[in-house]
Amino acid sequence: MQQHILQVIYLIGSVTFIGGLKYLGNPATARKGNLIAAFGMIISIFGTIFLYTNHEGEHLVNLGFIFGGLTVGTIIGWMAAKKVQMTAMPEMVSLFNGMGGACAMLISVIEFNHLTKGVTGVAELPTGEMITIIIGMVIGSVSFAGSIIAWGKLSGRVKDKSFSFQQFINIGLLLVILFFAYQTVFVSSEEFTETFYLVLGLSLLYGVLFVLPIGGADMPVVISLLNSFTGVAAACGGFLYDNKVMLVGGILVGSAGTLLTIVMCKAMNRSLVNVLIGNFGGGNVTAAGAGTAIVGTIKEVKAADAAILMKYAKKVVIVPGYGLAVAQAQHVVHELETLLESEGVEVKYAIHPVAGRMPGHMNVLLAESNVSYDKLVEMDEINPEFNTTDVVLVVGANDVVNPAAKTDPSSPIYGMPILEVENAQNIIVNKRSMKAGYAGIENELFYRPKTSMLFGDAKKALTELVSEIKNLG
Ligand code: TAP
Repeated sequence: MQQHILQVIYLIGSVTFIGGLKYLGNPATARKGNLIAAFGMIISIFGTIFLYTNHEGEHLVNLGFIFGGLTVGTIIGWMAAKKVQMTAMPEMVSLFNGMGGACAMLISVIEFNHLTKGVTGVAELPTGEMITIIIGMVIGSVSFAGSIIAWGKLSGRVKDKSFSFQQFINIGLLLVILFFAYQTVFVSSEEFTETFYLVLGLSLLYGVLFVLPIGGADMPVVISLLNSFTGVAAACGGFLYDNKVMLVGGILVGSAGTLLTIVMCKAMNRSLVNVLIGNFGGGNVTAAGAGTAIVGTIKEVKAADAAILMKYAKKVVIVPGYGLAVAQAQHVVHELETLLESEGVEVKYAIHPVAGRMPGHMNVLLAESNVSYDKLVEMDEINPEFNTTDVVLVVGANDVVNPAAKTDPSSPIYGMPILEVENAQNIIVNKRSMKAGYAGIENELFYRPKTSMLFGDAKKALTELVSEIKNLG
C-alpha cells in the first residue's frame, strides 16, 4: 500500500515539475511556477524518506544523517539565495549546479561500491546498471568540476587559461575516458575498481580543462550547458533507482538546459562551437574580430536638459542593460517611469533576450522594483515602435543596441538581432564612460547625431534625472 502511495506522490511531483516549468515561462507567473515545482520536490523527498522500502521491505534507517543534511543544506541555500546580489546570480546558479553534479557523481560511486561488493570479475556485474553508473559518474563529475571553475571565473577567483593544442588535448582526454569506461564495464576482469576511479579522476580533470579556456564572459552559456549535463546525470540516478520523479526531473533539467543553451546562442547569433572555442569577450576581442574602428565625436547631455526632453515627450522607451544591474538602479528607473507617466508620458521598457548576463536578467531585475509586466516589451514587438518614439533612454546597455550588428560584417556581433533604437527621434545613453560592453567592441550609436551621452553611474544619473524632472514642476 505504502509503495502505491509513494508512486502517486511521484506522479504528482512529476506533474508539478512540468506545470511549474510552464509557469516559469512568463514573469507574471514565474514565482507561482517556482512554488509549485518546489512543492512537488518537497513531497517527493519526504515521500521517499518515510515511505520507500527496499526489496526486503526495510525503510530507510539513517534518518539522523538525512535530516542533518537537509537542515544544513536548507539553511545554507536559504541564506545564500537571500543574500545574493542580482549581478552575482549566475555565480550562485553555477555553484548550485556544481552541487547537483557532485550528487550525481557520488550516487554513482556509492552504487558502484554496493554493486561490486564481494565481486571478483566484470562478468558477475549487471551490465545495464554498470553502464548507467558510469555514464552518471562521468557526466556528473564533468558538470561538478566545470561548474566550480565557472563559478571561480565569474567571481574573479579563476582566470581564463588556454594553451596550445588545448582543444586537441581535451578531445584526446575524452577518448581516454571513453576507453577506460568501456574497459571498466566490459573488459577488465579484476581491475574494474582501479579503472572506475581512474575514469572518475580523468572526468574531473576534463571538467576543469573543458571550462578553463572559455572566455569568462561566455560563462552563462557554459553554465546552461553544464546545467543540462547535471540533468542527464540525475536522470541516470533515476534509472538506477527506478525512481520516476528523479528520472522526470533529470530529463526536464537536461532538456530545458539544452534548449536554453540553444536559445542563448541564437540570440547572440553564435554557434555553440564558437562559444566553446571562440574565446569571445573576456578581453580577447581579436579572437572574434574587433570590428571596424569608429571615428567621430560624441555629444554629452546634462541631467537638466535630458529632463526637459523626457518630460515634454509623448512616448519614452527605456532600454535596460547590464549596467542597470551593476548599479542596482532598478528602483530609481521605476520611479522615473511613474514620474513620467504622471506627467502624461507613455513609458515602456524594451527587453532584449540577452540583455544583462543571464536569461531573463532584466525581467527579474525590474520585477524586483514592481515594474508592471505589461510594460516590458520584447524585442520583436518594440522594434517597429521606435519610429514613433520621442526619446529612448538606454541605461547601462551597449551591445544590444549596437547597429554594427546589422551593418558591419567584420563585427563579432554581426547578425545578432538588436533593439533598433537608432530609429527614435532622440537617444540618450547612460553609462559611466566610453568603455566597451561584453563583446569588447565600440558602439557607433554613441557617435550618431541623434544620440547624447549622459555619463555617470546609472543609479546616480537617474536619481539626478528624477529630481530635475520634479524641479520642472
Ligand atoms: P553590455 O554590452 O555588457 O554593456 C553594459 C554597459 O553597461 C557597459 O558598456 C558599461 O559601460 C555600462 N555600465 C556598467 N556599469 C554601469 C553602471 N554602474 N552605470 C551605468 N552603466 C554601467 O550589456 P548589454 O547591452 O546588456 O548586453 C549584454 C551582453 O552580454 C550581450 O553582448 C550578450 O550577448 C552578452 N551575454 C548575455 C547573456 C544573457 S543570457 N543575458 C549571456 C551571455 C552573454 P561603462 O563601463 O562605460 O559604464
